[in-house]
Amino acid sequence: MPEKSAADIGKEAAARAAIALVEDGMRVGLGTGSTAAVMVRLLAERARAEGLALRCAATSQATADLASGLGLAIEALDDIGWLDLTIDGADEIDPDLHLIKGGGGALLREKIVAAASDRMVVIADQDKVVERLGMFHLPVEVIPFGWETTCRHVKSVLDEHDLAQRPVLVRRRDEQPYRTDEGNFILDLALEEICEPASLSRALNAIPGVVENGLFLNICSLALIGRHDGTMAELRRDPHELGEAEADE
Ligand code: A5P
Repeated sequence: MPEKSAADIGKEAAARAAIALVEDGMRVGLGTGSTAAVMVRLLAERARAEGLALRCAATSQATADLASGLGLAIEALDDIGWLDLTIDGADEIDPDLHLIKGGGGALLREKIVAAASDRMVVIADQDKVVERLGMFHLPVEVIPFGWETTCRHVKSVLDEHDLAQRPVLVRRRDEQPYRTDEGNFILDLALEEICEPASLSRALNAIPGVVENGLFLNICSLALIGRHDGTMAELRRDPHELGEAEADE
């Protein structure tokens, strides 16, 4: 077995803490990405060992394939209707628990699933915590029809948000535009810092052709952050104050 990297140790610590929140009979949303994949493996192990009856909805085909291969019961979100808990990764997490997501291309299903959950818990290693969002490219999912026109509208929105001339990159895979599970394209916005995330998110989503953007604002209530030494930090979002509680393993 190759030695685990420091980031892998953090991801596993966060994933372990998250699956401890799952109770028998729960309806659980399963996120996408490498941290979520660790969580899915651990959850499947626990469900098997303890005989947990869980109903799970996946945020991507990749997660659905992984989870069902490990024996978790995956159902369509609409068949479950509402979820008790969604556990997902993130690309950046700020002190207000606002997130950038979509590095793995699943932002649309991730946002739909998170918005259909009583609680969204984010799991990540310590490198994902930032003072201000924006160094990670902000993904924006767009319909292929007229995407270059949509891209021009996106640039106008950036101009209006003092983000003129920031690069807008079309995500590619194998020299072709990357396609999401819905068959859409992704524009990655290299913004460096996002000073007005709510206004930017609203303006981007108002563009015809934009399906969704990767800013997850006021959706996550708890972030479980795994440090590279395997210990944990919890970031909680409270309507009145934000606190950091330490919980060493
Ligand atoms: C998937 O679209 C993303 O939102 C992921 O949750 C995010 O990119 C985190 O992925 P990792 O856990 O692989 O860093």
